[in-house]
Amino acid sequence: MAIERTLILCKPDAVSRGLVGEITARIERRGYVIIAMKLMQLDGDRAREHYSEHSGKPFFNDLVDFITNGPLLAIAVEGERAIDGCRQMIGATDPLAAAPGSIRADLAQTIGRNLVHGSDSAASADRELAIFFEDKDFVSRRHDLERWITE
Ligand code: RTP
Ligand code: MG
Repeated sequence: MAIERTLILCKPDAVSRGLVGEITARIERRGYVIIAMKLMQLDGDRAREHYSEHSGKPFFNDLVDFITNGPLLAIAVEGERAIDGCRQMIGATDPLAAAPGSIRADLAQTIGRNLVHGSDSAASADRELAIFFEDKDFVSRRHDLERWITE
């Protein structure tokens, strides 16, 4: 098995629209498990650190303003190939390009209010999880995972 950890954010638009339950339900229905969760309002420094790969791009300042604008829900998720699996569930960055059935296609309209973040690689997941969580925040759900996953 290739169990991975990834960072999912229900961005401020998802919290504001009351879609946290819908999004976490989709993650759980896929069989992934939540190993940590934090409702918080991000400050500018942490937002810029999280999205540092986009520093200098034309949309960077708007992105930081938006992500710090209200509370978000940070979720650490674990599962078999969970990084790519969660990205698949989230869908393409632009909701109009996202696959039907994905969160962004089903629930979002614009690229700037696309509801959810998911880490895009193992290196990103490690880096991003450390921005939102400490090691002691993670619970062990390996038993739950291994009960339901087979090769
Ligand atoms: P995320 O990091 O939030 O999961 O989204 P993503 O991987 O699908 O997209 P990414 O390229 O990492 O972009 C991060 C967020 O920046 C906003 N964005 N706006 N106006 C634009 O061209 C543009 N491009 C990106 C989006 O809100 C995107 O989620
Ligand atoms: Mg990204």
